[in-house]
Amino acid sequence: MTNPHRTFPKDFLWGSATASYQIEGAVDEDGRTPSIWDTYCRTPGMVLNGDTGDVADDHYHRWPEDVALIKGLGLQAYRFSLAWPRIQPGGSGAFNPKGVAFYSRLVDALLEAGVQPVTTLYHWDLPQELEDAGGWTNRETALRFADYAEHVAGKLGDRISVWTTLNEPWCSAFLGYGSGVHAPGVRSSLAALQAAHHLNLGHGLAGRAIRSVLGESTQLSVTLNLHVTRPVDPDSEADRDAVRQLDAVANRVFLGPMLDGAYPADLLADTASVTDWSFVKDGDEATAAVPLSVLGINYYSTSRAQRWTREAPKLQADGHADSDVSPWVGADDIEFLPQPGPYTAMGWNIDPSGMLELLTDIGTRYPDLPLMVTENGAAFYDEVSADGEVHDADRVSYLHGHINAVGEAIDAGIDVRGYFLWSLLDNFEWSWGYDRRFGIIRVDYDTLQRTVKDSGRWYSELIRTRQLPPLDATSQVLDAGMVG
Ligand code: FCB
Repeated sequence: MTNPHRTFPKDFLWGSATASYQIEGAVDEDGRTPSIWDTYCRTPGMVLNGDTGDVADDHYHRWPEDVALIKGLGLQAYRFSLAWPRIQPGGSGAFNPKGVAFYSRLVDALLEAGVQPVTTLYHWDLPQELEDAGGWTNRETALRFADYAEHVAGKLGDRISVWTTLNEPWCSAFLGYGSGVHAPGVRSSLAALQAAHHLNLGHGLAGRAIRSVLGESTQLSVTLNLHVTRPVDPDSEADRDAVRQLDAVANRVFLGPMLDGAYPADLLADTASVTDWSFVKDGDEATAAVPLSVLGINYYSTSRAQRWTREAPKLQADGHADSDVSPWVGADDIEFLPQPGPYTAMGWNIDPSGMLELLTDIGTRYPDLPLMVTENGAAFYDEVSADGEVHDADRVSYLHGHINAVGEAIDAGIDVRGYFLWSLLDNFEWSWGYDRRFGIIRVDYDTLQRTVKDSGRWYSELIRTRQLPPLDATSQVLDAGMVG
C-alpha cells in the first residue's frame, strides 16, 4: 500500500542520468574519432529511421544550459558517461587533452552548481579501432580499458563522487555480440560469452587502476541491468529451472565474478555446448572481484519465462529487439511469454513490484553492499499541449509507482542509497533512435530547445520535500511547484 506521504531519508541521493553517445552529438569535433555506435548507425537497417547520434541533443555545445537545468530542478547528483573515443581516440596510445577538457569543464560546472558528478567510464561507445581488432571478444580490450580508466582518474580525480566502470555489460555482451541488435551488431553466442568475460575482466582492471590513482576510499561502482524473470507456472519445476538458468546467464554471469570472484558452476554447465570457457585465465575472476563501494542497479520491467515444449512456435517476448540469434545463450529451450500491460512506448510492461523484488533479492544476496538505482524511467509518446507544456501524467504515474517501491525496499531494511531517473533529456534511444522519449525535459529535435515536462517539475518537488505525495495529489504538487 502506498504510504500517503512517504518520506525518504535525508542522505538519500536524488539524481538523473544520461550517456555520452545519447546526448552529446559533435561526433567529429575536437579530435573525437568514431565509436562502434557511429558505425552501427551508418549500417542500413540497424537504427529506426536511420537516426544517428551526430547531433543528438547537442549537449557538447549546450552543456552550460543543461547544467543550469539540472541546478534549476534541484538535482543532487548527475550521472553521465565519458566518451572513450573523445578522450583516447582509437582506444589506445595518445590521449586527447581536448576530450578530457570538455568533461573537466562539465564537472567543475556541476560542482559549482552543488551537484555531485557520478561518472560512467563505458556506456557503450567503444572506439571503432578497438572493435576492428575484435572489440570485447579480444582480451586486449580489457587492458586498454584499464589504461583509459587510469588516465581519466588522474585527470578528473577526486572531483568525481562515484566512479562507475561499466553500464549494463549484459547489453554490451549479449545484445552487442550475441543477438546483434546493438553495436557492433555481431551475432554469435560464443562471442557474447567472450565479451561478457572480457567486460568482467575490464571492470576489475579498471577499478583497480582507479583505486591505484585515487586511493582505496574512492567510491567505486558498476551498473548492472539485472533481470527480474518469473516462472510462468511457479509450481512447475521445469519453469523454475528455466528462471534459474536465465538468472545465471543474465545476472550471475556478472555478479559471480564481480562480487563472488567466480563464475557460477551452473552457468558453465548450461553453456558447455557453446564453449569450455578456456578464455578465462588463472586469476581473472579474482581480478574482476575488485571491492565495490556501491552496486548500481538499472530496472525497467519484468519478464515471464517457461521451458519451451516445441508444440507451438517459440515466444520471444523478452523486451529486446528481434534477431535470428537469441541473446539468451544456452537457453534455446526457454521461451518468454508476453506480459500483461500496461506498457510503456518501449513495449515494456509497467510493474513496480519488480523493483521491490529486485532490490530485496540483491540486498539479501549481498547484505553488506549498498545499492543505488542508477536508472529507472519510462518512454511515452509525449505531446506538446496547446499551452506549450508537456503534461506527461503517464510518466509521473510510472515514476510514482517505482519510487514508492524503492521506499518499500528501504522500509524492508535494504540499504538503497540513491535513485537516478532515466533520463534527464529526451535522447538517442539506441536502436529506436529518437522515436522513444525518456526525458523529464523535452528536446525539440528541430530547434534543440529544452522544455521541462510535468514529470520534471514533479520530480523536482519530490527532491525538495523528500516526500512522495499520493499520486492523486500530483496536480496540486505541480501547481505549487517552484520550478517551471
Ligand atoms: C538502458 C540504457 C540506457 C537507456 C535505457 C532506456 O538499457 O543503459 O542508455 O537506453 O536503457
